[in-house]
Amino acid sequence: MSAASEPTAVPAAAAVPAVPAPGEGALVPVVVVGAGGMGKAWISTVLRSDTARLVGVVDVIDGAAAKAVAEVVPTTEQAGIATGTDTLDVAQRAQAEAVIDVTIPAAHHPVTADALHAGLPVLGEKPCAATLAEAVSLAGHAEATGKLFTVSQSRRHNPHLHEARRLADSLGGAGIVNTRFSKAPRFGGFREEMAHPLIIDMAIHAFDAGRVLIDGTPVSVTATSYNPSWSWYAGDAAATVVITYDSGAVHTFSGSWCSPGVETSWNGEWTLSCGGGSVAWDGETPPTACPADGEQIVGRAPAADARWELDASLAEFCAALRGGPTPASEVHGNVWTQAIVEAAVRSADSGQRVQLADLLDEALEGGRALDSVDGRSRALQAWKTGRAGLSIG
Ligand SMILES: NC(=O)c1ccc[n+]([C@@H]2O[C@H](COP(=O)([O-])OP(=O)(O)OC[C@H]3O[C@@H](n4cnc5c(N)ncnc54)[C@H](O)[C@@H]3O)[C@@H](O)[C@H]2O)c1
Repeated sequence: MSAASEPTAVPAAAAVPAVPAPGEGALVPVVVVGAGGMGKAWISTVLRSDTARLVGVVDVIDGAAAKAVAEVVPTTEQAGIATGTDTLDVAQRAQAEAVIDVTIPAAHHPVTADALHAGLPVLGEKPCAATLAEAVSLAGHAEATGKLFTVSQSRRHNPHLHEARRLADSLGGAGIVNTRFSKAPRFGGFREEMAHPLIIDMAIHAFDAGRVLIDGTPVSVTATSYNPSWSWYAGDAAATVVITYDSGAVHTFSGSWCSPGVETSWNGEWTLSCGGGSVAWDGETPPTACPADGEQIVGRAPAADARWELDASLAEFCAALRGGPTPASEVHGNVWTQAIVEAAVRSADSGQRVQLADLLDEALEGGRALDSVDGRSRALQAWKTGRAGLSIG
């Protein structure tokens, strides 16, 4: 099972936007780089978009881009789409204005940095990069080039999640957030071989969604990870991760990828405790508020023309290129989500609580080392600390 076949919260077809985003101008001509499972999902997303148009597809495997175009793009539209193995060559031939980087995580840093330095803004699939040091380096490359680099965290673009935030705010704001995640997928492939499949490949979505629900900046992470005796994964398929925020809020994620029987939605099940009551969300339907002193309130259903997941990421990115607001997942903001993931792995491996400020300082040193070998960006030299650098994005 490819990653792209991971279920989305709603069928993508139901999410086709009807209303152009504010600030939108001409369609943004884009090249999709990486023609694997998720790359094909992105090709389809661009094809149905009212903010971007597909002008090229790239894959490092010879012939893979042309094959993906033949599979996904209607025959009548294939002629105008450039294909090849080199991003900058295809982007130039296709007169692209932006790149969507859907390569494997190990390729995110070189593909994105090359595109930025060629003057092309980038919308990248999660994770931002393979390591936190590479992610921090990319924040520096975005500064050095002045080009937008945004990470698509698709599950953040779920109208129910934002409705849960609105309901929690009406009750005084979420101070205790709990996520329960139980699934039992048989992926095969790399997920069944890696050391921390749940934390790295899945919990990143919940950590990022938690940041939508909670005010403030994450401070520390404590994690326990384990592999139940019946697990079909080589690495730890279950974990409990506790993230503290400088607002005093705490987000606890408890999840498993080997729990058949009572399963949650792919977004997990959420409870938000606030001063004036609580909010419950099953990850699929509108959340519900339970005020301490009143009747239960069912949250608003999403608007018919609401944009979801990849459609929303793309529309937000294109709107930003046409003068709209900078997306919340612009690289400087998104690095915090990757920092939580890396801190959770380190805490699980060491048994220690990990302070994000320390981890980010270490990543800053690592990013500077990468940049000095690369020679194209000196932006990180101006960062006083990892935390401080991320707040200037
Ligand atoms: N948001 C989500 O829910 C979600 C779901 C699945 C995957 N993803 C992310 O999408 C990305 C791609 O995942 P996938 O499942 O499609 O992987 P995949 O292995 O199926 O496809 C990746 C493709 O990138 C190509 N590639 C690798 N290096 C390249 C380079 N330097 N230049 C051009 N092409 C290159 C590979 O040949 C391959 O065809 C990953 O970052 C993954 O984490 C996100």
